[in-house]
Amino acid sequence: MSITLSVIKADIGGYVGHSESHPDVIAQAKECIAKVQKTGLLVDYHVTKCGDDLQLIMTHQQGVDSEKIHKLAWDTFVDCTEVAKKLKLHGAGQDLLADAFSGTVKGMGPGVTEMEFEERAAETILIFMADKTSSGAWNMPLYKIFADPFNTIGLVIAANMHAGFAFEVHDIKEHKKITFNAPDEIYDMLVFIGAPSRYMVKAVYHRETKEIAAASSTQRLALLAGRYVGKDDPVCIVRCQGSFPAVGEVLEPFASPILVEGWMRGSHMGPLMPVSIPNSTPTRFDGPPRVVALGFQLSGGKLVGPRDMFDDKSFNLARHQANEMADLMRRHGPFEPHRLPLEEMEYTTMPEVMKKLEGRFTELD
Ligand code: 13P
Ligand code: 13P
Ligand code: MG
Ligand code: MG
Repeated sequence: MSITLSVIKADIGGYVGHSESHPDVIAQAKECIAKVQKTGLLVDYHVTKCGDDLQLIMTHQQGVDSEKIHKLAWDTFVDCTEVAKKLKLHGAGQDLLADAFSGTVKGMGPGVTEMEFEERAAETILIFMADKTSSGAWNMPLYKIFADPFNTIGLVIAANMHAGFAFEVHDIKEHKKITFNAPDEIYDMLVFIGAPSRYMVKAVYHRETKEIAAASSTQRLALLAGRYVGKDDPVCIVRCQGSFPAVGEVLEPFASPILVEGWMRGSHMGPLMPVSIPNSTPTRFDGPPRVVALGFQLSGGKLVGPRDMFDDKSFNLARHQANEMADLMRRHGPFEPHRLPLEEMEYTTMPEVMKKLEGRFTELD
């Protein structure tokens, strides 16, 4: 059976500050979606959060970019914003950039990733959700999962994966896309995806079956809004097992924390810490950035699960290392490479300070 999995998310208010989601907001979202599910629009759903981001995980048969599904998400976010406003949560309605729905949530603030596929005999899915970081944070993990044999031994020893995977890469500044075949073209691909603030892995496909293996959200809030409203806090769906990497291969990149853009005021580099859903509560310097992973088996589109995949002792060392990395980065205070380079900063007083000091700059001898 053909099924569509949609993950649509938005920050519609933080509790307290940007550190967590309020239970009343999550309850409101569950109520909104439960009402609609009775109409038969959805096969199943799961409402969750990552830090201050509300996450709607939905299965249905409307295909990707369905107006009905996007409207359901938008209406849910609008209703939840009312709850957030009543509680005077921080930044209530933060990610809703438009006043009214106009056919899609794309370009309106929420993050979205969707994929349609034929459900396999066993359909294993992992959904990654991050807080306090940018779209592009999935580039390195997706590269390791689908192109690095030091991470994914299946690429070497599993016959059904040996042909490799194709990466669809988006240039979000020029609005262009290109597909690279791994392993043949990895050197070319890395020139681009090594710059994740501009080039993002949008989707990954199996090269032989052409089946979709992974899809990520690539919306950049600051580019859409033309100002800083919050970080993108992206999501990513990965299909696992069979001719795709095993669950353990998909989780493995997160055992070695990397530095990503985000953290305080969206303007710093910090470690991406893998945590359980209850521990997705970025507090220290509004961070460090977090990633959670929910696992499901799909059965006729029903979401069997979730399992909270980073709620496991084997990620303790990664969390410890991420905290050590956080300390090391914090040591730099307002200096790069902790603070982002000027052109990447979400917040800056540079124009005002420059103007004030205009007359005081003199030519060098
Ligand atoms: P969020 O994008 O998670 O709202 O974080 C915003 C921020 O600037 C935290 O310091
Ligand atoms: P406020 O200026 O709204 O307090 O935001 C600061 C912050 O948390 C960055 O998003
Ligand atoms: Mg927030
Ligand atoms: Mg957030």
